[in-house]
Amino acid sequence: MKSIFLIASACVLFAACDSGDIAERVYTVDEKGYTVKMTARMSGLSDWEGGDYTLAVAGFTADSKFALLQRALPSSAEDDALVSLVLSNLSGEVQTVELALTNSLRKRIITLASINMTDYAGRSTYDTIRLDLGTLDVGRFGVLQTGLFNRACIQCHGASGRSAAGLNLTEGNAQANLVDVPSTRREGYLRVESGNAEGSLLHLILNEGGENLLSHNHTEILSSQFKTNLEEVSSLIDDWIDRLTP
Ligand code: HEC
Repeated sequence: MKSIFLIASACVLFAACDSGDIAERVYTVDEKGYTVKMTARMSGLSDWEGGDYTLAVAGFTADSKFALLQRALPSSAEDDALVSLVLSNLSGEVQTVELALTNSLRKRIITLASINMTDYAGRSTYDTIRLDLGTLDVGRFGVLQTGLFNRACIQCHGASGRSAAGLNLTEGNAQANLVDVPSTRREGYLRVESGNAEGSLLHLILNEGGENLLSHNHTEILSSQFKTNLEEVSSLIDDWIDRLTP
């Protein structure tokens, strides 16, 4: 934490200040602001090396999709490395601190984890707020698993047995259930067609015009969950599909 040091000359009561024996004291003034420490064992960070996006711990205000401040995670970190990052001097304006993918303008692309700072109102700013995330895959597909499927899909597409359309989007199953698998609902389509986002059923049902392709309106599911970053999430999905090799 950054501190401001004041050098003050103290005159002890009743002691003569002109004695020439002036004591120097150092006072530490706490800079107002919270500190959040994020820790996780991460893999896939290198997927973001040199690209347009940055994986960062970022502070957002309530009304902007641009981070007020952020610190990037090291994209050079090896897989499975324990990564720890501190974001400090967070003012009262900051409403959420997120592990998020952002672009060069610090715009939110997708959020992997978030804490609400209003939950910590009134706490001493000396305390560090911890964001312990366990083990996390933050690669190109990992961010979709955590930021999209876990958040908006697995309540219906859960573990086998009770997954809508027999589609299991839980961790460790989603890729195998999507990539180059024929749709059980729309003949002639693959759920995800490697290298062809625009032709994939997943793309079609999540974008405008796809409202009636299934008995369930998936465009609405997506837009209700991602109010400030709908386009960004959609293009992240397309990016993932287009990079798959058939
Ligand atoms: C409220 C429940 C619900 C949620 C949430 C939901 N789905 Fe679905 N999904 C369904 C149902 C029901 C079907 C089958 C629709 C039909 O029979 O026409 C389906 C079908 C699908 C299909 C077509 C599968 C096939 O074999 O053709 C895909 C792909 C899909 N969902 C992806 C998703 C994704 C991605 C999300 C998260 C963004 C999501 N769904 C969220 C209920 C849901």
